[in-house]
Amino acid sequence: MLKKKMIAAALAALFVVAGAGSALAAEDTETAASESAFFELLEKRKSVREYNGQEVTDAEIAAILKAAQLSPSAMGRYANTHITVIKDAATLAKIDESAAKTFKRSGALYGAPVFILISQKPIMGDELANADYSNAAIAVHDMALAATDLGLGSCYIWGAVAALNQDSDLVASLGLPEGFSPCCGLTVGHTDISFEKRDIDLARIGVSYIK
Ligand SMILES: Cc1cc2nc3c(=O)[nH]c(=O)nc-3n(C[C@H](O)[C@H](O)[C@H](O)COP(=O)(O)O)c2cc1C
Repeated sequence: MLKKKMIAAALAALFVVAGAGSALAAEDTETAASESAFFELLEKRKSVREYNGQEVTDAEIAAILKAAQLSPSAMGRYANTHITVIKDAATLAKIDESAAKTFKRSGALYGAPVFILISQKPIMGDELANADYSNAAIAVHDMALAATDLGLGSCYIWGAVAALNQDSDLVASLGLPEGFSPCCGLTVGHTDISFEKRDIDLARIGVSYIK
């Protein structure tokens, strides 16, 4: 019972209520959305599944990792996140092969020269929960935006990571710190695909208001 109460209190602490709502009127929002570099980056980002073999430099990886380090974390528990930058071709091939066993087709990492894996250690209890997965996902998304900003292709990878988790020997070979499990990842690489602003349906996600 006490444990349940402690978990409830900790969960409540996760959600700090933000201040008063935005002062932007609808037309201002439209202007800001169409003009700011932030929205331009969001409109340019896309999942890239074709890489041209050009090496991703250490400086590019460092810039992408900086985006992960700038990400938020539930209750500030950054030590519960671990990032593994995988460039070793043999390890990339093994992850691809293990995904192929599960999905009956190869190429889950799209031949990317870099795979950045995010692993989490549960913040509360013994199992990963929504805050843990969210911490990982936010870091991956921030890295995807950084990659786009650098002109690099990237793709969110959840499927191959789910497959990886079925292969305990392969997970063990990654040398994760004790208690960490792979959550998701990002392929990164140079690409011949260009990043024009995309024409995206801005009503594709349903929205309801309670006023
Ligand atoms: C949580 C999540 C998991 C995803 N997992 C995969 C994946 O395992 N493999 C893949 O090729 N794409 C994956 N994607 C990419 C989506 O298919 C893609 O984001 C979506 O189709 C929209 O396309 P866009 O990213 O080009 O805008 C994932 C995206 C998200 C947000």
